[in-house]
Amino acid sequence: MTDLIAQLPKAELHVHLEGTFEPEHIYQMAQRNGIELGYASPDDIVAAYDFHDLPSFLSFYYAAMNALQTEQDFYDLTYAYFEKVAAENVVYVEPFFDPQGHTSRGIAFDTVIKGIHRAQLDAEQKLGVKSNLIMCFLRDMSAESAMQHLQLAIPYKDWIIGVGLDSDEKDNPPSKFAAVFEQARAEGFRLTMHCDVNQKDIVEHMHECLDLIAVDRIDHGVNSLDDPALIHKIKSLDLGLTVCPVSNHFVVQSYTTAEIRQMMAHDLKVTINSDDPAYFGAYLSDNFRALVKEADFSSDEITTLIRNAFEVSWLSATDKAHYL
Ligand code: ADE
Ligand code: ZN
Repeated sequence: MTDLIAQLPKAELHVHLEGTFEPEHIYQMAQRNGIELGYASPDDIVAAYDFHDLPSFLSFYYAAMNALQTEQDFYDLTYAYFEKVAAENVVYVEPFFDPQGHTSRGIAFDTVIKGIHRAQLDAEQKLGVKSNLIMCFLRDMSAESAMQHLQLAIPYKDWIIGVGLDSDEKDNPPSKFAAVFEQARAEGFRLTMHCDVNQKDIVEHMHECLDLIAVDRIDHGVNSLDDPALIHKIKSLDLGLTVCPVSNHFVVQSYTTAEIRQMMAHDLKVTINSDDPAYFGAYLSDNFRALVKEADFSSDEITTLIRNAFEVSWLSATDKAHYL
């Protein structure tokens, strides 16, 4: 089974580039940029990891971003991720980035996107990993800030396939961003939103995603099982769900394997993803291995999950046919 997971070409649709920031890299970049993060070594950074829910993770995630300063830093962060996953036969990625995590501390949007884009071009050429970028808005910031960042992204429309919504979900419903997502759709961006596992008002948030925003995909989405109407809608729209088992284990202390099986039994297009692999200690293959280890997932189940990711990706029909 480990061989099957390693050998099959894979796609990843839910990975935050800033969540691929390995402790050694955080330390090294902080040093080279003269940023004081308050850690004496990479081990010291790891020793500070204490994630047991979404907010406890996010506060560390944003603090580490301070080490990222230059276009080259964004290039290095992005290219290191692609190098890592190329070695496990990931051939296609739709990574997220969080521009507001950078502009809010004085880094220009152009600096961020140019570094990431250059790494994407090199990864495709040198490593054979193709990617399409998704820009996320931070839902715990204002809708005005999201709208400003949408305007910043429009000149780079050809470099960004879609927009998403992440960060702290509590009391930050999809409806807060309805106007932003409406304009994003009109500009040609695909739409997705996080519906993190077991968050407050999650069922209402999922209905808003579907009925008000009309998303093209849902990130996480395990709570679709809480309401038969949600299952029915997601299935009839054939929407992909980007589930992150190891991340879920940090947030709700469960790999959600039973839920993954139930969603598959409902014929929902579940995909498996890493979310923030450097922090959760698990890249894409590790997430598949967790399903096998925890719940004895079969080779058929693993193959279906891998295939689903290509099917619900935002690749063109021609490109999809190449991978499927
Ligand atoms: N940003 C980075 N990782 C995230 C997660 N797991 N949930 C919400 N926002 C995030
Ligand atoms: Zn996420």
